[in-house]
Amino acid sequence: MKKLIVANWKMNGELSKINADLSYYAKLPETNKPNVVLALPYLYIVWAKQRLLMNSQIKIAAQDLSHYRNCGAYTGKINGSMLKDAGVDYVIIGHSERRTLMGENGAILIHKVRNAFESGLIPILCVGEPLSARDDGSYLQFIELQLSGLEDIESFKDIIIAYEPCWAIGTGKIASLVEIQEVIDFINRYMQKRFAYVKITLLYGGSVNSQNVGDILALENIGGVLVGGASLKVTDFTAICEKI
Ligand code: PGA
Repeated sequence: MKKLIVANWKMNGELSKINADLSYYAKLPETNKPNVVLALPYLYIVWAKQRLLMNSQIKIAAQDLSHYRNCGAYTGKINGSMLKDAGVDYVIIGHSERRTLMGENGAILIHKVRNAFESGLIPILCVGEPLSARDDGSYLQFIELQLSGLEDIESFKDIIIAYEPCWAIGTGKIASLVEIQEVIDFINRYMQKRFAYVKITLLYGGSVNSQNVGDILALENIGGVLVGGASLKVTDFTAICEKI
């Protein structure tokens, strides 16, 4: 199975950067691959799909979607069918920044996963413990609780789960390979037990860079990585994509 590299640009980039970077990635054999996924700010998605990446294999993710499924009076929201219409294949759900800064809770996130399934998008659901749960040893219970709402979803489809320990995001402090493997195996067992009939892909995210990505991708049950900061630098991101 081909490993996935998902670039989470977050709220970064302006049109000139989008134009320059994506035109470059579209032509370069190292990055022009269907398992390279760019999670761009909403505003740039249609432009990227219809112009910059028109003849490339690179896929697009959205960084979020509305928990409201149908179109209607929801000022500022974007739903799954709009994303699908714009050519999006994947959607990140429950990134720790959304959980902590925007107060998204488990119930909202389950609506979002359901909406992604119903719109034909593959959800990339992020889970991961804060430092306090790592320190007091309750991190697996914490993650189990984050996953538990998935059982309420009736028609479950292919899903990607990204393990992103909060303390490793944007800090340069990466989890050790042993720590990553333990949690990935835990999530894998949890998901296989309940949803073995769909395709489940597991990613690691949190301070991934061109130096550590090779070792992470070599771990068992790892289907790829979710990259934040390093995905904004063309040389770093290209070096990461060379590994797949
Ligand atoms: P980082 O971010 O690679 O900058 O740690 C990862 C993420 O937020 O998904």
